[in-house]
Amino acid sequence: MDDGLQPLIAGNWKMNGTGAALSQLERLAKLLEQAGPRRPDILICPPATLIARAAQTARNTPIRVGGQDCHPAENGAHTGDISAPMLADAGASYVIVGHSERRADHGETSSLVRQKAQAALAAQLVPVICVGETEAQRLAGDANRVVADQLAASLPDAFGDTPIIVAYEPVWAIGTGRTPTLDDIAAMHAHMRLLLAARFGAAGETARLLYGGSVKPDNARDILAIPDVNGALVGGASLLADDFFAIIAAA
Ligand code: PGA
Repeated sequence: MDDGLQPLIAGNWKMNGTGAALSQLERLAKLLEQAGPRRPDILICPPATLIARAAQTARNTPIRVGGQDCHPAENGAHTGDISAPMLADAGASYVIVGHSERRADHGETSSLVRQKAQAALAAQLVPVICVGETEAQRLAGDANRVVADQLAASLPDAFGDTPIIVAYEPVWAIGTGRTPTLDDIAAMHAHMRLLLAARFGAAGETARLLYGGSVKPDNARDILAIPDVNGALVGGASLLADDFFAIIAAA
């Protein structure tokens, strides 16, 4: 189980990868083995079709496997959906919920995201809950309010013993090669820390706040050195083991 103490470097493969991509997981495991025992927690979220095989490939390695989404219900008539207990059964220990691509492509609201996070907790999965403003919202000076509203509505009220993990991913930084300034990332993470500490007390103070959006080997060190940045959620650069390992090494 995730103990919430170390940084977390998480890879989100999105809708990329067939069986051949498992060779990247094998390569990552090898790089980690060569690097020795000091490392952050490491998570890979492959497409659902690969979770069981990825979990098999990653057993006896420090790599944990997660889903990219789950349905709020345990089971039922929801064609094409996957429940949290199913992800756990396939070998996942984490699940991303509320990614901006799900919010945009599938109209997911923060209240749905909260139900998904609750379903994850009930299935003993650690939810990685995503928030982040659009470019228009940032330009309008609304980023802090938008993120505060998303946090308030997307997070369950109780996490039990499960650590809180939130990923701040400005929508305009995802897949674009653009990132906020280090000062802007620091300010948003400090803002989130205050809000989470006020709501959850000690669990909020130790919540892991990941930054996501165009994290690459060449900017990871600076981003991960920011106070209140406790890890990264990495899309494109998680697809190649060597790039992802370089980000892990920067933590
Ligand atoms: P990116 O994606 O690293 O490709 O920008 C990040 C994410 O969407 O989690």
